[in-house]
Amino acid sequence: MSYPNGKNLERNISNLVKRHGTPLVLISKKLLTEQVEKFKRLLPRVTPYYAIKANSHEDIVKTFVKLGTGFDVASKYEMELALKCGAKPKNIVFANPIKPPETMRFAMEHGVDLTVFDSEYELYKIAENAPGARVLVRIKVPNIGSVVELSLKFGADPVDAIPLLIKAHKLGLKPTGLAFHVGSQCTHVENYIEAFEMGSIIMHDAKLKQIPLSIVDIGGGMPIQHFDDDEDYFAKFAPAINKEIDRLYDNSVQLMAEPGRSFAGPACTLVTRVMGKSIRENKPWYYLDDGLYGTLSGILYDFCKYQYNVFKRGLTHISTLAGPTCDSHDIIARSVELPELDINDIVYVQNIGAYSTASTTNFNGILPAKTVFLP
Ligand SMILES: Cc1ncc(COP(=O)(O)O)c(C=O)c1O
Repeated sequence: MSYPNGKNLERNISNLVKRHGTPLVLISKKLLTEQVEKFKRLLPRVTPYYAIKANSHEDIVKTFVKLGTGFDVASKYEMELALKCGAKPKNIVFANPIKPPETMRFAMEHGVDLTVFDSEYELYKIAENAPGARVLVRIKVPNIGSVVELSLKFGADPVDAIPLLIKAHKLGLKPTGLAFHVGSQCTHVENYIEAFEMGSIIMHDAKLKQIPLSIVDIGGGMPIQHFDDDEDYFAKFAPAINKEIDRLYDNSVQLMAEPGRSFAGPACTLVTRVMGKSIRENKPWYYLDDGLYGTLSGILYDFCKYQYNVFKRGLTHISTLAGPTCDSHDIIARSVELPELDINDIVYVQNIGAYSTASTTNFNGILPAKTVFLP
């Protein structure tokens, strides 16, 4: 059965529900492939390293291995997964700026020698546990307007980048380049533009200090569309990124990125079912079989807003959607325009592949949604 899309959406979803029940997360191999192609088309000079944290489903990782992308891993588990799925160690960056010493050793033992740091303490740790590793200094860059701010916890002050790279060299490491992250779901291209400018100044200074750098890792952040009328910001601002890359970095510089959301997000659909309803404060409430402790956890951790779709038609009312646990916190959305729904009616959410199944729990003994991988 193929991934439900277009005009046969309702029939296909109903068939999948008949076969697998709900809640159900559908993953599309075709859409995964399209996201990689889109990225390569939009940013031809940038090599993507999929950020596994967005969605670590094995079939997703295997699909990207086949498509020849690299991988950004944040932990031993993700590194083992990438290797098990066939990724080559040289195509993996251990991009978590703070790592346990034993995982750093594990990385080197398995040939993963490229990592990221943003402090002197981390450099000492890397030098001790992964002597000779190639290191990228992560700098703090503007995250203005990005839905998830990623410069709060990590990123060295750009003025400290050169002293840190010199320190890396003195410790026997290979200072190789720099990295940054403009924040996830970034719709302000200015964040990238400013980061490129900062990066180019650091590359220049490093060259003067006899530390030639060859890699600029532009992180993730590429935004996706969650609602039917959302603009495709990524497509819109890619030309400006390419222009800056060409202006500031000659062909000897290798550009890499760590897209997570833009690769996994558009490729998945969550299918839930109404399993209870009530009227509270004159408003219809629908209780779904998935919620904030499950696939919709991105509402909490990823500040994500989703579009809730139904097949029912008719007069709509402002309605509340809630999850299946007994927790009052488990409220999905308080004002969704919906026609009157009945028990067993389907509510589905598209573009939910990133930061969703990645943080599900078994709270209340309710198991995460079943996942089905479709061509
Ligand atoms: C180091 C790093 N790289 C890449 C990503 C993926 O970013 P995105 O999903 O916005 O593409 C993240 C997200 O948290 C990250 O922390």
